[in-house]
Amino acid sequence: MNGTMRHSALVAVSLFLALVLFACEKIDRNMWDNPAFGPQSPPVRTPPEGSVPTKGLSHRPAMQAAASLSNPVAGSALDVEGGKALFTVYCVPCHGVSGKGDGAVGRKFSPTPSNIGPGGITRSMSDGEIYTVVSNGEGLMPSFAADISPVERWRIVARLRAFK
Ligand code: HEC
Repeated sequence: MNGTMRHSALVAVSLFLALVLFACEKIDRNMWDNPAFGPQSPPVRTPPEGSVPTKGLSHRPAMQAAASLSNPVAGSALDVEGGKALFTVYCVPCHGVSGKGDGAVGRKFSPTPSNIGPGGITRSMSDGEIYTVVSNGEGLMPSFAADISPVERWRIVARLRAFK
């Protein structure tokens, strides 16, 4: 066997081996085609009946039941400060800095959002009722249950009570 022949033999063998290996992958795809499920792809298991989220369920009472709820937040200066910051982020766009319902977004509403400032509708509402409006929304006002935690909602109530 001269050099050239040996060379072509080597090439032929390599080609054959490559073909065999490639074919193996094509023929025996057990490991390749195993059933895999992507995140959220069906079948999704439904949680067993009666299961609760690990972080607990937030309390979203109906209006009638809400009236008697008392604010678990003591209303300390810190709570009011926290509530003030939250109020600025979540309520001011519609209700305005003064709470009168003249926020930049609120002005576009017809009728404009309720006055929740000093002397506004909140004077005749219980803490629980305000909490429930923020939790569930009312009329054109959206629910804030997904954005503001229960404790934070109560801090906003404390802030509204301290509104001057
Ligand atoms: C997207 C605009 C919008 C935002 C943001 C908003 N509100 Fe309102 N709010 C309204 C409108 C509109 C009403 C009037 C609801 C109705 O009676 O139809 C209202 C009414 C209210 C009322 C009185 C409910 C009643 O019975 O009349 C309270 C209390 C209140 N909002 C509190 C808040 C607080 C606290 C926040 C911040 C966490 C907030 N709102 C954020 C639009 C908004």
